[in-house]
Amino acid sequence: KPQLFIFDLDGVITDTAEFHYLAWRKIGEELGIVVDRALNERLKGVSRMESLNRVLAAASQAKEMTEHEKEQWASKKNAIYQQLIDTIKPSDVLPGISELIRELKERQFKLALGSASRNATFVLDKLGLQDAFDYVVDASKIRFGKPHPETFTNAADYFSIPYHACIGVEDSEAGIEAINSAGMFSVGVGCLDALHQANYIVSDTSQLKLDRIVEAYRLAAW
Ligand code: G6P
Ligand code: MG
Repeated sequence: KPQLFIFDLDGVITDTAEFHYLAWRKIGEELGIVVDRALNERLKGVSRMESLNRVLAAASQAKEMTEHEKEQWASKKNAIYQQLIDTIKPSDVLPGISELIRELKERQFKLALGSASRNATFVLDKLGLQDAFDYVVDASKIRFGKPHPETFTNAADYFSIPYHACIGVEDSEAGIEAINSAGMFSVGVGCLDALHQANYIVSDTSQLKLDRIVEAYRLAAW
C-alpha cells in the first residue's frame, strides 16, 4: 500500500511552469535564442543554471560565455520570474489539487513537496499552502537535482518509508526520470510526449483522482 505522496511544485501544484517558460523566453529574446515549447520541456524540473546551459547549448553559445556572465543571465531570469510570481494568490492552486491534498490527509497519507526551486517557499506562502505538506525538500536539502533521484529519496528517507511505497507526481521529463530511478511509482501530469516514461499519466491536474492513482499502483503490482 502506498504511504507517501511526493509532489513537484512548478506545474503540478500551480502553473509556475508557465512563468519559468515566459522568463526563459524573454532571456532567449535578449540573447537571440528561440526558446520554444519543445526546448522548454527540457528545462522543466532542472535547476536554474542547468536550464541556462540548455538554452545556450540550443544555440551553441555555451562556450562563449564566462561563468560570471552566466551568473548574471541566471539572476536576470530570476528577477523576471520573481516579478511574475509576485502576483500568485490562493486561487492559483491548480484544479483538483486542494481536494486531492485534503483527501490524502483524511486518509492518513504522508505528504511531501519535492522542488529544487529556490523560490518554492515563497510560492507556497503565496498559495496559502505553507502548512499543507508534512515535509518540504528544497534546494538546501539535496546535492543533486532531477533527474537524479535524490529529491524523492530524501523525502522518503525523512519518513523512513520504503521507496516502493512512495508515489511521485511530476509534470517534467526530468522529474519522471528521477521518480523512476528512485524505484517509486511515477504519476505524470501533462502531455504524453514528454511523460511517456511515467507509470500513470493524466492530461491535467483535475484528472488526478486518488482512487484511480492507487488502483493504477495496485495493478502495476508495485
Ligand atoms: C523547478 C522548475 C524549473 C526551475 C527550477 C529552479 O525545478 O521546474 O523550471 O528551473 O525549479 O527554480 P528557481 O526558482 O530556483 O530558479
Ligand atoms: Mg515541475
